[in-house]
Amino acid sequence: MCQNNWQELEQKLFLRTFDRSPLTLVRGQGAWVWDDQGKKYLDFVAGWAVDSLGHCPQVVVEALEKQAKSLIQASNQFYTIPQIQLAQLLIENSCLDRIFFCNSGAEANEGAVKLARRYGKLHLNGAHEIITTHSSFHGRTLAMTAATGQTKFQEPYIPLPTGFINVDYNNSEAIKQVTTGQTCGVILEPIQGEGGVNVPEDNYLKEIESWCHEQGILFILDEIQTGIGRTGTLFAYEQYHVEPDIITLAKGLGSGVPIGALLAKEHVSVFAPGEHGSTFGGNPLVCAAAYATVKYIIEHGIPEKAKQVGNYFMARLETLKRQFDFITEVRGRGLLIALEFNDTIAEEITLACMKKGLLVNRVKPDAIRFIPPLIITESEVDKAVSILETVLEETEL
Ligand SMILES: Cc1ncc(COP(=O)(O)O)c(C=O)c1O
Repeated sequence: MCQNNWQELEQKLFLRTFDRSPLTLVRGQGAWVWDDQGKKYLDFVAGWAVDSLGHCPQVVVEALEKQAKSLIQASNQFYTIPQIQLAQLLIENSCLDRIFFCNSGAEANEGAVKLARRYGKLHLNGAHEIITTHSSFHGRTLAMTAATGQTKFQEPYIPLPTGFINVDYNNSEAIKQVTTGQTCGVILEPIQGEGGVNVPEDNYLKEIESWCHEQGILFILDEIQTGIGRTGTLFAYEQYHVEPDIITLAKGLGSGVPIGALLAKEHVSVFAPGEHGSTFGGNPLVCAAAYATVKYIIEHGIPEKAKQVGNYFMARLETLKRQFDFITEVRGRGLLIALEFNDTIAEEITLACMKKGLLVNRVKPDAIRFIPPLIITESEVDKAVSILETVLEETEL
C-alpha cells in the first residue's frame, strides 16, 4: 500500500486526537528512521523522548528476544525475576527506597497522587490537595488533566476531579501562598518538558523541598521526561541537590516498551496490599527491556555523554541565534532543548525540517523542541544543525 493510503486510512479510522505530520515510519536504527518510501530521517523526536539508546538498540532487542521465549506475562499474584532486578537497579541508583511498576507516565503520576492522598489520610489529618504548576504536563487521564496546569487541556473536560491547585512555575512564593492544612504534596517537573522546556532558577527546587519538609508535606518530582539520563544525570533532581519523597518515571525507562514507575522513600511507603495495582505493570517482557536499557545507560556513562553532546548542541544553536534575529532563546539541559522564535513559525519550521530529513517537535506555536536519542554523536548534531540552518535561511518573516 502506498504512503498516502495509510494516511487516508488513518484519517478515516481514528478518533481525531493526534495532529500527525504527513510521514509514515516503518523502520529505525540508532538515531535514524526510514519512511515507507525508503527515505531516511535524522530523528530528534525519538518517540517523544523515549528512544534514549536510539531505535532498536541491540541490548534491548536481545533482552526482549530472550524474555519473549521464556515468560511474557505473569500476574502480580506471583513473583517474577525481571521486575525485581529492575527494581533493585533503580533503587540502588536513586535516593528512593521502594517502587511500583505501571504502564505509562500518566499512570505513574496517578499512583503518586494516590500514594500522597493515602499519606495525607494516615499522617496529615486527611489532607488531600496537591499543588502543581502552570505550563506543566502530567498526563492525559482525568486526574492528570486536572494536575496539568494548562487550560487548553482542561477546558474540554470540565468538571475535572478536584483536589489540584495550579500555580505559577518557578515561583516558590506562589506555592507557599496556596499551601494549607488540606495540602498533602507538591508535584513538579524538574524542567517542564511539554510546556516548552522551561528551566527553573537553580534554587527553585531546593526552596520547594525545604518548604515541603517544613510543612510535613510530600515533595514529588515528575521525572517522566527528565529522568533516565535525559538532562545529563541519571535523574534531574541530582543537579538541583534535592531528595524528593516520590518520583515518577516512564518514557526513557524502557526504550519504547510501555512502562512507568513510581518510586518512594521508605517513610512514604503507605500502600497496604490491594490499595493499588496493575495487570500489566512490571510484566517480565517490559522489565527485561527496561533492565537492559537502564543497565546500559548506567554502565556506559550515557547521562554524562548526553550532557557533553547537549552542551555542544546548545553552543551550535546559540551560534544560529546570533545569525537569525527571529530566534529569541535557546534553552534546556542535556538533550532536552528548545529553540524559541519571535513568531508562531514552529509548525512551518518543523515541516520544512522534515522535508529535508530532520525530525523535530513543535512544542509550542513559537518553539521547537529537540529530544534526540542520548547516543547521538556530535557529527549527527552537525547534520541536524546544517539542515536547520538551511531551513531558517529559507524562512520568510
Ligand atoms: C513530564 C511528563 N509527565 C507525564 C507525561 C505523561 O506520560 P504518558 O504519555 O506516558 O502518559 C509526560 C508525557 O509527555 C510528561 O512529559
